This record gives sequence, structure tokens and C-alpha cells, in this order.
Amino acid sequence: MADKTYENVKIEREGEITFLILNRPEKRNAMSPGLHYDMEDALLFLNDDPQTKVVIITGAGDSWCAGQDLKLYFRETANNPAERKRSNTASHHWRHDILTRFSKPTIAMVNGFCFGGAFTQLCSCDFAIAAEDAIFGLSEVNWGIIPGGIVSWNLTDMLLPRHAMYYAATGESFDGKRAVEIGLVNFAVPKDELKAKTLELANKLLKLNPNVLRFTKEGVRAVRHMRADDAREYLGAKQDSLQKADKEIADRVGMKKFLDEKSYRPGLGPYQRPQS
Ligand code: ACO
Repeated sequence: MADKTYENVKIEREGEITFLILNRPEKRNAMSPGLHYDMEDALLFLNDDPQTKVVIITGAGDSWCAGQDLKLYFRETANNPAERKRSNTASHHWRHDILTRFSKPTIAMVNGFCFGGAFTQLCSCDFAIAAEDAIFGLSEVNWGIIPGGIVSWNLTDMLLPRHAMYYAATGESFDGKRAVEIGLVNFAVPKDELKAKTLELANKLLKLNPNVLRFTKEGVRAVRHMRADDAREYLGAKQDSLQKADKEIADRVGMKKFLDEKSYRPGLGPYQRPQS
């Protein structure tokens, strides 16, 4: 499939790993209506793209994403309710609906500033790795709005309540190391190691059965707010549908390799999968 090109977003590939890059570096990758439409389209494209097995979302230049574009997203749509509604719908669609249901693993590679509305796509990605000197902030309070959209929900979903309240109410910024401490990202590494560390995770994910990975992602997300009894029912049915969806699982290849062939230890790493 030929790559699509966009005004506000770039697609770059390293084999089966696809980088989706917010590409308004001169505006610190603030999210304009145009960027929302491009991201929505690009993610739908990559979800169906057979070459893409892992998606890494990052920002061009020294910023990951400076939040909603205060001029183009807020001020210039203030008197245009139709455009406000359209861009608001696209904004929520890609940052939450598409990303949280994405069929392949997604990694946020946070290379710099991450403010306000950018927390939604950060929390929607399955994994997040930040530069130690990346700067995160719920800056909304600094200029008189609340962390809206679903940012306040993202915070309370991802962080302990004390951390969510502190950073939302004070607007105080914090770095990548602090983002690890409060559970917002998985790892923080020196900036010059960020890409290598992110690719290391992406390559680890590539070794796994993609259906198991997808069902695991869906299961972990779905049970988050369920009662234990409901989760048990749901996960039982989910495992049954995985058996039906995937021949390798139906054939219990992994179990045979451990119990019969004794050719690997599942506790220590994935077995060598047949090349697809
Ligand atoms: N909306 C619109 N334009 C932006 C935004 C934004 N969120 N962030 C940066 N820009 C623009 C600036 O206006 C400037 O444009 P100009 O060159 O036409 O003047 C350009 O990007 C560069 O910005 P600087 O401030 O000059 O860059 P610097 O590197 O010094 O600072 C920083 C970067 C810290 C990100 C700063 O721009 C900033 O504080 N931006 C606002 C961040 C924010 O509060 N985001 C939350 C928005 S609200 C929400 O998401 C719900």
C-alpha cells in the first residue's frame, strides 16, 4: 500500500515499525483542526496497513505536542460552531476512540513538550517512553480553563488521585523522570537514547503473536472498570474467541514446545515463532 501524505503529519517506516509524526514543529506540534483530521485519517490507514505491526507516535523537532492549538482550534472556531464541532469530534475520535481500540501496539515516544490536550493521546497509547528532559504540564489552569475534553478523566484513570489533583490544580510542570514516578510513562531515558529504547520495545513486541497481543490489550483495557466476577466472565469468553481466531493458539504451539519438546521457558521469553 503506498503511503499517504499529509500537511500536518508524517509517516516514516523502519520495516514493520511505523512512526507517525506530528509535523508542525514551528508551532511545537500544537493540534490544529487540520492536524486532527490528518491524524484521524492516518491512524485509520495504518490500522489496516499490512506492513505496519507497531505504531510509534512522536513529534517533529523538540516538542512532542503542545496541546490544542490555542489560535486555530479555539480562537478561530469560536464563531464557527460547525467547524468547532467537526474538529472536536475528530480530536476525540483519534486521540481516544481510535487509539484505545487500535489493533496493533502503540507507543508514545515523548521527545519534548507534552501539554494539556496532548495528555489524551499520551494516555491512549499502550506504552509511553519519554526523554528524561521532556516537559509535561497541565497548563490549562494557568490561563483560565479546566483540563477538559477528557484530560481530567485521563489523569484520574492513569495516576493516583493525589498526583492527578496536584498537577491539574497547580499547573506545575514536571520532567520525564517524574512522569515515570507517577505512572504516566513506562521509562525515561536520556534524549539521545530515546529512539533506540523505543525501537527496543517495538522489536520486543514484534516477536509476540499479534493476535495474543491484541486480545491482551483489549482485555486489559476492558476489565479496568469491571467487577471481578464480570471480568472473569469476559476474559473467559475472550480467551475462547482467541482460540478460534488464531491457529497457533488453537494448536497450543507454545504449550507443546514447553511441555513436550522442552524447547523453551515461557517465563524467560517468547519462543521462535514461524515467519509469517
Ligand atoms: N497553541 C498555539 N500555538 C502554540 C501553542 C499552542 N498550544 N504552543 C506553541 N505555540 C506556538 C507559539 O505561539 C509560537 O508561535 P509563533 O512563532 O507564531 O509566535 C510557536 O508555537 C513557538 O512557541 P514558543 O512559545 O515561542 O516556543 P518555546 O519553545 O519557547 O515554548 C512552549 C514552547 C513551552 C510549548 C510554549 O509555546 C507554551 O507554553 N505553549 C502553550 C502550551 C499549552 O499551554 N498547551 C495547552 C493548550 S490548552 C489545551 O490543550 C486544552
